[in-house]
Amino acid sequence: MRAAARKNMTDQLRNPGDEHMPVMLEEALDLLQCKPGGIYVDATIGMGGHAQAILERIQPGGQLIGIDRDKDSLEKAQARLKPFARNLRLVHDNYKNLPLILNNLVTRPVDGILLDLGVSSYQLLSPERGFSFQSDVMLDMRMDRTQQWTAADLVNKLSESELADIIYRYGEERLSRRIAAAIVQERGRAPITRCTQLAEIVSRVFKVRGHRGIHPATRTFQALRIAVNEELEGLEELLSEGFGFLKTGGRMVVIAFHSLEDRIVKRAFRRLAGQCVCDAPPELCTCPRQAVAYLMTPRPMTPGPKELASNPRARSARLRSLERI
Ligand SMILES: C[S@@+](CC[C@H](N)C(=O)[O-])C[C@H]1O[C@@H](n2cnc3c(N)ncnc32)[C@H](O)[C@@H]1O
Repeated sequence: MRAAARKNMTDQLRNPGDEHMPVMLEEALDLLQCKPGGIYVDATIGMGGHAQAILERIQPGGQLIGIDRDKDSLEKAQARLKPFARNLRLVHDNYKNLPLILNNLVTRPVDGILLDLGVSSYQLLSPERGFSFQSDVMLDMRMDRTQQWTAADLVNKLSESELADIIYRYGEERLSRRIAAAIVQERGRAPITRCTQLAEIVSRVFKVRGHRGIHPATRTFQALRIAVNEELEGLEELLSEGFGFLKTGGRMVVIAFHSLEDRIVKRAFRRLAGQCVCDAPPELCTCPRQAVAYLMTPRPMTPGPKELASNPRARSARLRSLERI
């Protein structure tokens, strides 16, 4: 994990009670070019921060479709966006179902799609949601609380090698095998059900090996969160399927918060822009190389110093955008 991502995660846990501040709002709005009467999609509406700014710009007659898999967040967004109720459709669903959702709700191609990926500070900082290694609460981590499996289920039911793979892949944790072994040993005595209990087990592995910097459980918790919510699965398909709903000149803006996500976005956007995305030498490349989009951000945009000063949590954000041609 990048140093910036690590610092970001630590900052988030240091400031409990803070509200979610929309990240890279100005940049996202500039790129989306919201127009009165336009149709826009916020596929991760969260607390409605970006959505509010979009709704203010698409009056009169605009329409925003807001999706989130977290019912609590949707309720908060609904309360915040009450003045715009006539222009807003809120949908409790996984954005993987975007094609189905848009087929039901829109009759013409859309002007813009925003994805602000990952977890919100509201989710991360609400102790009862069980995301934080600092809270002595049930190990949960579900964004969608109607989903059955929780982080505790993964920790108690997966095999040692499955756990090690998850912690390595999604947490980029070099001690993944040792941590998985410690978890399996500990759950043989009693089930692991609480966040602090898991954090202590991971910390003990690091006490033996020594560590510096962020809390030793940070990467393991990130990995479990990504696995519980299947955060990376289907993202690449979603980007190309969602793109299919854009009108010519319509834009997609995606904000990612860790390198695993950003890599998927980069690859999907490059493919749509007709670039090679394989590792083969040029003479063996079979990438379609048919440009249907123009990359608005050949390199990812990052937050400016002003935003970083007021919202250190934005530090690991990477914004990419493309336009349908
Ligand atoms: C970073 S927050 C978005 C914050 C929002 N832009 C704002 O300004 O308040 C990400 C949101 O995406 C939601 N989310 C994550 N993965 C999702 C998925 N697969 N489908 C739908 N919503 C998802 C989370 O529940 C969370 O509320």
